[in-house]
Amino acid sequence: MKKIMILFGTRPEAIKLVPVIQELRKYPRTFKIVICVTAQHRQMLDQVLEPFSIRPDYDLNVMQVNQKLTELTANILLSMEEVLKKERPDLVLVQGDTTTTFVEALSAFYHKISVAHIEAGLRTYNKFHPYPEEINRQLVSTLADLHFAPTDLAKKNLMKGGIDKSKIFVTGNTIVDALYMISRKIHNVNFLKEIDFQNEKLLLITAHRRENFGRPLTEICRAIKEIVRNNPEVEVIYPVHLNPSVQKTARKILGGVERVHLIKPLAYIDFLYLMSKCYLILTDSGGIQEEAPSFGKPVLVLREVTERPEAIMIGTAKLVGSNRNNIVNQAEILLYNKTAYNKMIKRVNPYGDGKASKRIVSTLKRVLRE
Ligand code: UD1
Ligand code: UDP
Repeated sequence: MKKIMILFGTRPEAIKLVPVIQELRKYPRTFKIVICVTAQHRQMLDQVLEPFSIRPDYDLNVMQVNQKLTELTANILLSMEEVLKKERPDLVLVQGDTTTTFVEALSAFYHKISVAHIEAGLRTYNKFHPYPEEINRQLVSTLADLHFAPTDLAKKNLMKGGIDKSKIFVTGNTIVDALYMISRKIHNVNFLKEIDFQNEKLLLITAHRRENFGRPLTEICRAIKEIVRNNPEVEVIYPVHLNPSVQKTARKILGGVERVHLIKPLAYIDFLYLMSKCYLILTDSGGIQEEAPSFGKPVLVLREVTERPEAIMIGTAKLVGSNRNNIVNQAEILLYNKTAYNKMIKRVNPYGDGKASKRIVSTLKRVLRE
């Protein structure tokens, strides 16, 4: 029996780890699972875990309103000390590139505990885009012993960084597993009943990245306002991230604007439903770039660079940055040019096939046995 500690703390990590937890639970004689959350996101994390009845064994509850990276890093590192000393797992499992991911991996290293990294090898090679995620994930790659890369490109990035090929496993991204798991249960959502999908075009927006704070996010919000003003058939839904910096800008520019619905973060199942119903997605989120191709929805990526170029390569996403005119122009092309729109709606997902968790768990079984 091997003890695996699963460590996470934010919404995207939770969504991408739920299928792995479910898969690990199928082998109770092989794995003892201990779940520890930092709760770097308090409400948005609970919102993901509750429907699956996942109850963490440890909840470090580190979130503070408007937390700064330094205090967050220090708090996680200090809180982990006792947990790792007490549990001494054979391996810790971390996902992605948040501050939780990096600090948990560092903490495991300090205790000489092996680290397996899910979603390894994503890169922009631009230190501040995204910030701090690019450096977080590079550091995690240095700290990790096993690297679960979602795509061949991610594997190449890891090898370029000097990671031993025998420690890299291409699995697909577990987000596609999560999406398949949930899609079967999708139901109608109340607030959407007022939207007339026959005659209106629904734009789904999310934006929360730290490197977009200030002028870029302001420009993004102004672009949305202009798109709505120019195009009477457009309706916008923007579930606003709970980060106060995001809330402030979004509400200041888009609050009270006709046909713009600023709403609370949605439960995952409701958000997927919205994705399935929308006409176009504008986002700076990583996870949404990975989900959209499964729904055949075009994405305008509100970033200067992306570590997920696969969708851009197959033509279902476009990088538009945060320039207001560019966002408006690109959105309006997709609103009116049917040919341009149709070119972006292939239902092919380059990020995974829904079996990533199975591959991860079977690799863990083999490697830990050895
Ligand atoms: C974090 C990750 C980012 C990831 C994003 C996904 C870091 C540094 N950033 O960014 O990589 O893309 O999550 O959403 O790890 N808040 C709440 N309740 C919540 C969640 C957040 O109130 O459930 C507020 C708090 O005031 C908190 C603030 O949002 O201080 C910022 O949260 P934080 O986790 O530091 O950064 P994110 O922008 O969410
Ligand atoms: N998501 C959600 N509710 C929302 C907005 C997003 O469940 O209101 C999901 C989305 O489907 C994706 C994930 O949250 O799976 C992405 O999280 P986020 O954008 O916070 O982080 P990122 O992917 O950028 O790290």
